[in-house]
Amino acid sequence: MACVFIFLALVFSMAMAADHSPLQDFCVADMNAQVMVNGFACKNPSLVQANDFSFAGLHMMGNTSNALGSRVTPVFVTQLAGLNTLGISMARIDYAPWGINQPHTHPRATEILTVLEGSLEVGFVTSNPENRHITKVLYKGDVFVFPVNLVHYQRNVGKTNAIAIAALSSQNPGVIPIANVIFGSKPDISTDILAKAFQASDDVISAIQIKF
Ligand SMILES: *[C@@H]1O[C@H](CO)[C@@H](O)[C@H](O)[C@H]1NC(C)=O
Repeated sequence: MACVFIFLALVFSMAMAADHSPLQDFCVADMNAQVMVNGFACKNPSLVQANDFSFAGLHMMGNTSNALGSRVTPVFVTQLAGLNTLGISMARIDYAPWGINQPHTHPRATEILTVLEGSLEVGFVTSNPENRHITKVLYKGDVFVFPVNLVHYQRNVGKTNAIAIAALSSQNPGVIPIANVIFGSKPDISTDILAKAFQASDDVISAIQIKF
């Protein structure tokens, strides 16, 4: 009997690892609601329109003229209110030649990536103590999954622009870019803490912090 309860508790806690299941057909986000809930309050269902379930413009290339040479165009709950409570979202990612989508994690989502154009080197790293780097080069039509929470990245290894579509298991996956949170926090993490962590000199660390 105890075993059954432990099993059910495990199943329940696993289900809770993703966005919660909806308790109604839909709950279009009411971005102007004053009430604070986990996610967004629902718009009055009788006032909901088809446009609340729609997003336009994903055929357009993102501007990759930046230091990383990539651009993420999100279609999360903020851009598509109808995603509220549905536990799913997507993004278009454009990469200039040799552009990268820098190492980052999604605190709330597993990601499945499809290459539409070009070729991408992708990878993720497992948790301690293995820190195994799982990496592969993907071509047009290839699909790759980045398990929830793990640090992952992509790099365009072709001579032309690359395009990918990512699907994510949260209406609001969140993103933690490793370089930004470590070197660009406000206020800064003390240089000597990072110097110890990265086994580098204070000067090297400050030089990186200044760039963020
Ligand atoms: C792309 O971004 C760069 C840098 O912010 C900017 O100078 C340029 O005008 C943008 N290009 C387009 C087409 O918006």
